[in-house]
Formats: sequence, C-alpha cells, structure tokens
Amino acid sequence: MLTRSERIREVIEDLGPTFIKFGQIIADRPDLISEPLREELKKLQTAAKPFSNEVAYHIIEEELGDPVYEVFDSIGQKPIASASIAQVYEGVLKDEKRKVAIKVQRPHIRQKIKLDLVLMKILVEYAVKSYPELASFNLAAFVEDFGTIMMKELDFANEASNMMRFSEMFKNDDTCKIPRVYNKYTTHKLLVMEWVDGIEPQKIHSENGYDKTKIAVNGTQIILKMILKYGFFHADPHDGNILIGHNNQMILLDHGMTASLKPKQIDALISFLLGFAESNENKITKALLRLMEIGYYKNFEELEFDINELVQKYSYIPSNKIDVSMVMNEAFRIILRHGLKVPSNLYMLIKTIGTIQKFAEDLNADISVIEFIKPYAKERIVEKFTLENLLNKVVNSAEDYLYLAETLPKDVREIVNNLKKGVLKHEINFREDSFTNKALRNTTNRIAFVFIMGLMLVCSTLLMIYRSDSGLVKAFFIISIVITGWTALTLFFKTKFGS
Ligand SMILES: Nc1ncnc2c1ncn2[C@@H]1O[C@H](COP(=O)(O)OP(=O)(O)O)[C@@H](O)[C@H]1O
Ligand SMILES: [Mg+2]
Repeated sequence: MLTRSERIREVIEDLGPTFIKFGQIIADRPDLISEPLREELKKLQTAAKPFSNEVAYHIIEEELGDPVYEVFDSIGQKPIASASIAQVYEGVLKDEKRKVAIKVQRPHIRQKIKLDLVLMKILVEYAVKSYPELASFNLAAFVEDFGTIMMKELDFANEASNMMRFSEMFKNDDTCKIPRVYNKYTTHKLLVMEWVDGIEPQKIHSENGYDKTKIAVNGTQIILKMILKYGFFHADPHDGNILIGHNNQMILLDHGMTASLKPKQIDALISFLLGFAESNENKITKALLRLMEIGYYKNFEELEFDINELVQKYSYIPSNKIDVSMVMNEAFRIILRHGLKVPSNLYMLIKTIGTIQKFAEDLNADISVIEFIKPYAKERIVEKFTLENLLNKVVNSAEDYLYLAETLPKDVREIVNNLKKGVLKHEINFREDSFTNKALRNTTNRIAFVFIMGLMLVCSTLLMIYRSDSGLVKAFFIISIVITGWTALTLFFKTKFGS
C-alpha cells in the first residue's frame, strides 16, 4: 500500500516535467506543505528522453539563421547532457576556433510549460474551492511565483546575462570560474559558452591532487560572497551544476535560477546569524523582522519569547557547528505561526545555503558558515560608518529616523512606527482634543528636538574626529554635548513626571 505522500509523488511524476519541477520547488517550502510530503517530494527526479540531433541542429539553425556548419567547425554526435529544458552539445566555433558548450532548448517546451502553468492554476483554484482550509497558504501566489521562475529559466538570454553578472563579480577571484558567454551566438533558446574542463565533485579523490576541504571552503565562500556582498546569487548550486577545475577551482554552471536580496535584507541576515552566535534573542528578533521587511510588529515581545525558545534549543551547540539553513527554517516557521509573511526570495536563500552546506558535507569538510560570515559583518560595519554614509544615514530618509529612534524608549519607537504607517494621522483627525493626541503632539515635538540635537552631536563628533586641531570645532563639540545633555535631562524629567 502506498502512503498518501507517495501517491502524490507518483501522480506528479506522471504529469511531466513542469509538475516535477513544481514538486521539487514546493519541497523546499515548509510553510506550504507537510513534512512527510516534503520528504517524499524531495525524491522527485526528472527523467527526460534526449531529443534527436536533427531536431537540435534545426533549432540551432533557426536561432542563428545560418547552417550549423557555417558557425561550427564541428559539433558532437551525441549530446553530453539532456534534461527537461535543454540538451547540451560540445562543439568548436568556426571563427574563434574555440571549444564551446552549446545549450539547445527542447522543442516547443515554452508552449508546453505555459499550458502546464494554466492547468496548475486551474487545479489550485479547484483545490482551494474544495478545501477552504488551503486558502490561508496562498498557493495561488506560489503558482504565480513558480511561473515567473520557470519563464526566466526558459530564457537563455536571461541565463547569459546572469552569467555575465557573476563573471564580473569574480573576475579577480581565481577560486571561481563562470564560463564566458558568446553573445553573438546566444538567443532566448540557444546558449553558446566557453567549454570548461573539470571533474564532477563526487569523483574528487584526494589522491589526484585535489583538496576536498579547500574545495568545500571555496564553494561555501563563493556562494556566501554572492549572497552577502552582492545580494545576487545562484539559487541552484547542487553537485550537477558544479565542476572542479585546476587548483581546486569551482566552476559554476546552469545560471537560469537566481535570486536577490536587498541591501537592508543582507544587513539583517548578518545580524540574524551573529545574533545566534551571541545567543541574543532581541537582536535575532529585530533582525528577523527587518529580513521580512516588517517595520513594526505589535506582538514583538511574544515573538521574542518564541525566538528565545529557539535560542535555548541551540544554546548547547557551539555557534560554529550551527546548521544555518535549519535554524533559519525554524525561525521562519515561528514567523509564520505569528501570522506574518515570509517573502519568497528568503526561501530561495535557505535552499541555497542548505544546498551549499550539503555540498561541503558530501566532501567530508567540517565547515562553519557562521565563521565565514564574520568578515562580511566587519566589512559592513566599517562601510556603514564612513563619513559619507553616516551623513547620508542621518540626513536622508524618513526611515532612517528610526535608526536614531532605536535608542529612544520603546513607546516612542511605537509612535514613530505608527506615524510611518499613517495610523497616527487618523487618530489625530478623529480625536482632535483627546488626551492621547496632546501627548502625541508633545512627544513628536520632542522627537524632532532630540533628532536635531542628535544631528548636532553627530556632526560635531565627526568634525572632532577629522579636524580635532581646530579650536572652533572643539567649542562646537563642547556646546553640542552640553545642550544635548541638558535636553536629555529635561526630557527625562518631563517624560517621568508628565508635562
Ligand atoms: N560550459 C560547459 N562546459 C562543459 N560542460 C558543460 C558546460 N555547460 C554545461 N555542461 C554540461 O552539461 C550539463 C547540463 O548543463 P546545465 O547548464 O546544468 O543544464 P540543465 O539546465 O539542463 O541542467 C552540466 O551538468 C555539464 O555536465
Ligand atoms: Mg543543471
């Protein structure tokens, strides 16, 4: 007797490549499906029959507008790889006399996938109608996201552009290689790139002069650099998309699936992970909310309490042994339990970190992702406190107001948040003479005052650092300290005893 999960997997396999891919991706979403089903869907394998050389050559000719032998001196008689979306051939370019890999898209695959996506939408609508409890999972949005991912993967011009972006990132870094793209011969359905020689990671043995630990370290560093330095990363770095070259170099292939993080999310991610290393639940909770791009959460304390449970659970494991993707997964689950939303790029992030951790484990390397993150944290802090950035931070946007407000009492922070969300405006409109309104008006004035004082203090401190020899600067510095100190004291008494 098959279990329900096994039956679902078999049905998906029968439905073909789009559904298989859908199953593989949804297997990484603990917010959408149960644990047993996730385990079962992780077993999904794509079994695609190769298509004939005639068909492949025909597609190449159609894309290039020239006969195959006008462009290539030679082309392999058999594809070296064949998967659900494409087939790869080896060849030699006529004009450059260079060996290349030719990735040819499967015939009519775009139409088939589009049709499958429509079918998938109908199935989801039907499922949600029949089982209303599914509505809260927002499967429709997931299908929408999945459609976008699939369509991007199908566009080889997009893959080529991703490859060029990664090449630029690693142009001075010998530990990583991305094949060069031949733009002249690349279209939406055809990708011609430099041929790279390397061996598959599973075939690495130390006897052949390879260093497994170095390879694992390289791989992890490369993916972390993409995530933490550039906020743009390869979202599918599994064994099949990696080759190992000379000097333990990591060659990355298959760049159709990528994801991005915003600079603020990168900061939050670093803070989140360091928070774990320090067992600091307050830092972790704040970082999590910033990572999810949630400005204010009314049940912050309850969330912090739940996060503390998680911290306690891991407190017996040394921070350098923490399984980062697992911890993130558990933290995200807590976020979901609180009814908050996790943006889909963060699931891609967990999956990517998990994949590269597994890559390192398979090489028997004992690697601490947290240790690798520390230098990025330092770099970010230094970057944040350059004169230019500090001034930008203080002066520029209303959001950065919060940066200063973070040091103010918690209730003031809540008010600023409400101000940002427009909640406060309504209160002022509706309850013009109420006690809260008067209190708020006073508090807002005070915040503005403290803000100006803070600004003065920051400017004078900076001037002190950079031009401490000038008497005028010193006087400015001392006056700012006195005024700010005096204001802070008055404020303290006013807040305590009412105004
Ligand atoms: N530039 C290249 N040089 C050498 N082999 C390549 C190159 N590009 C792809 N391959 C081989 O073709 C296989 C499939 O390519 P990939 O881009 O991963 O396609 P798919 O999207 O079908 O997985 C790779 O696993 C690798 O063995
Ligand atoms: Mg691949």
